[in-house]
Order: sequence, then C-alpha cells, then structure tokens
Amino acid sequence: MKTPIDQLLAEHRIIEKALRALAGLCERLERGEQVDPDAFDRIFEFLMTFADRRHHQKEEKCLFPALGAQGVPRDRGPIGVILQEHCTGRALIAQMRRAVSAHANDQFIEAARAYVDLLSEHIQKEDNVLFRVAQTLLDERSMRSLQDDFNQAEAELPGSLAKYEQEAQEMERAWAV
Ligand SMILES: [Fe+2]
Repeated sequence: MKTPIDQLLAEHRIIEKALRALAGLCERLERGEQVDPDAFDRIFEFLMTFADRRHHQKEEKCLFPALGAQGVPRDRGPIGVILQEHCTGRALIAQMRRAVSAHANDQFIEAARAYVDLLSEHIQKEDNVLFRVAQTLLDERSMRSLQDDFNQAEAELPGSLAKYEQEAQEMERAWAV
C-alpha cells in the first residue's frame, strides 16, 4: 500500500530533476553560453512553489508534528538538522535571485551550486534516515491521518504533482548537460 512517505519520496525524484537542470544552467554560464533570462524565473518559481512551499511545508507542517507525537524531538536530532537545512535552502534561493537581478553570474553560480549540494545531501538524509524512522514509527492510523493532512495542505496550493513533474522534466531536458 502506498503511504504518504512514498509521496514525499516521489517528490524528491522530481526535485532532483530540477537540481540537474539548475546544475546545467551553472555549467552553461561557466562555458560562456547565453542563458535565456526567463530560465532563471522559471527555475526559481519551481523551487519556491514546489520544493519549498509544497514539499518542505508538508514535511514541516504535517510529517514533523506526526513524528513529534511519537516522541521525535523537533529542535535537535534529525528533524533539527533538516529544519535548519530548509532555512539555508530558502536563504540560498534569495541569494540566487539577488545575483540574477544584479547580473552577477559568478555569485549566481556560487549560490546555485551550494543549493544543489545542500538539497542533494538533504534528500539523501531524508530518504535514508528520517523517512525510514517515519516508516517504522507511524502505524496505519497515523499514516492515514498524515495522508489526510497532506491532502488538505495540497488542496490549498496551486498546481498538481503531474504538472510539476512535467515542468521539472522539461527543464532537465532543456538545460542539464
Ligand atoms: Fe524532503
């Protein structure tokens, strides 16, 4: 049976496509290739609406409280680290956007590469540590209630998983090298 954790895992695979697209943009800039200015807005929009607002907030507002109810502390341990990384990711997106507004390619590349590294490692940690803890700690009833929370959170957000998956795929195809 599919659990809400499977849904988060599937979202990670979509975010990874966008990370490969972002790394591709960096490489193209480093080679001196022209990058369409719309590409930056497109990837920022994806990272802010899908990776951050949709995915990270489902973890923060639904999964972590469910784990908290099972005794997993929020301010330290794996959840403490993950929350800190979500904050660092948000700061790096802001840094990338400022660099693009200032036409500062080097600063964009530096922030974008830091973001790709951060999120790639972050996803590995969640897949291999936190989500395994969740699969063990949350029983069928907690999983059902977590799924309800996810459904409610998603109903308040624009777009659909299929739409975001297609968008990530298109960006990866266009920019990854
Ligand atoms: Fe995640």
